[in-house]
Amino acid sequence: MPPSTDEPFTLVIFGASGDLTRRKLVPALWSLYAGRTLPEPFTIIGSARSEVGPDEFRLRMRDAVREFARTQPPSANVWDRFAASLSYVPGDPADPALYTRLEHTLKDVEGARPGPANRLFYFATPPSLYDTIVANLGASGLANPRGGWTRIIVEKPFGHDYASARALNSQLASALREDQIYRIDHYLGKETVQNLLVLRFANEIFEPLWNRSHVAEVQITVAEALGVETRGAYYEEAGALRDMMQNHLLQLLCLIAMEPPVTFDAAPVHDEKNKVMHAIRPLDARKIDEIALRGQYGPGFAGGKPVPGYRQEKGVAPDSRTETYAALRLTVDNWRWAGVPFYLRTGKRLAKRVSEIAIRFHRTPHMIFHRAPSGVEPNELVIRIQPDEGMALTVAAKTPGPDLKLGPVGLHFRYGEVFGAEPPEAYERLLLDAVHGDSTLYARADWVEKAWSLLGPVLDTWAQASAPPPHLYEAGSWGPAEADAFIARDGGAWRQP
Ligand code: BG6
Repeated sequence: MPPSTDEPFTLVIFGASGDLTRRKLVPALWSLYAGRTLPEPFTIIGSARSEVGPDEFRLRMRDAVREFARTQPPSANVWDRFAASLSYVPGDPADPALYTRLEHTLKDVEGARPGPANRLFYFATPPSLYDTIVANLGASGLANPRGGWTRIIVEKPFGHDYASARALNSQLASALREDQIYRIDHYLGKETVQNLLVLRFANEIFEPLWNRSHVAEVQITVAEALGVETRGAYYEEAGALRDMMQNHLLQLLCLIAMEPPVTFDAAPVHDEKNKVMHAIRPLDARKIDEIALRGQYGPGFAGGKPVPGYRQEKGVAPDSRTETYAALRLTVDNWRWAGVPFYLRTGKRLAKRVSEIAIRFHRTPHMIFHRAPSGVEPNELVIRIQPDEGMALTVAAKTPGPDLKLGPVGLHFRYGEVFGAEPPEAYERLLLDAVHGDSTLYARADWVEKAWSLLGPVLDTWAQASAPPPHLYEAGSWGPAEADAFIARDGGAWRQP
């Protein structure tokens, strides 16, 4: 379907008093508006239990924009025009009366402007409320306006295992078609992640090398310097595997490993990503130690200051076995990737915040520079997702001088240097795509279920009381020492980003 640009729409945010609305959603909507990319006319209706008036809501959102938006309010006038489109309807999402009030507000808004009644509902609430909201959207008729589209955006976690993900998908499907459901994975909205697809599929030179004949291994690192902050209670139930690996890192793997989709549209892209998921070798519950490793941060240092260990964080059990670090070794069993290991690792309280994908190529088959004193490092392509978005290709070069010495040199592309601007926030792109009806960068139901079923054996093994506890690592380090031994078993080493 072509994008439905420049049609009016109303966005209803459930959970509008929460952190996500303040830190990400409204700042992203503001930046889109300020950059003149948000279709108009639009209305944003916040909804939550807190009994605040619309003016108070606008003031809070102005503060949120000041604190978190990429684009600052250029003038009071522009902000006032944006704020005039913000309103607030208080209520309990479990109370049917809220939906009657929302219906009145929506009808007023939609009646006052020409064009169809397009509605986007954002679930920024705890996931335990999703089924209640979906049931009420269906029962109240809010999801079926006349002459317009209805879409919902659902935040992760989409379930906590395969069975709960299936149950959630069927609840959503009871009120809406799959093409109305947008499961957000904000990593897919990151500018460099999209750039990865452009790199692969808009350039001739990489694709011939993008396979087992030339690639020796792939490493995907998503490292965070922060700890669990205020989210201890949530994280206790999640852990790194559920919080990051099941979604963000597996999505990155799929984009690296997938075959070229016929076009960059939702169905072909989702289909190709699903083929990768089906090709990943199922994880053998009897050999989890060879495939997966978990760690947990102890006390240490972050930014030069002492920080507590995970077990001392608020909301965390003093004997918690939740992993704050996870590493996986995956194999994609297909013609393109047979035998190429994919190493994935993610963790909190690591040495620095950095996300990157490193493609390491084979060594040259024969070294003619036999008089070069040191060997040559294999070529490496590193796609830096954040920060310092960009990419670097390492090639061997002759170092200056009479001797034939070889050394690695990097060919760099830095987003900020070339385009002279910070890339847009992931939520900007993804919100706009949902308004335009483009779900290419969202997660489809079958992908989510497949990701849970893939990780099931690891989750089950780690949940057993008899399983060894996570390996401790010092906050501010690169993770547990055992992670080095884990990768060294194949003769490799983690890249130091
Ligand atoms: C979220 C996780 O999905 O991603 C958080 O729930 C994590 O625990 C965050 O901190 C990382 O996102 P980003 O964009 O800061 O890398």
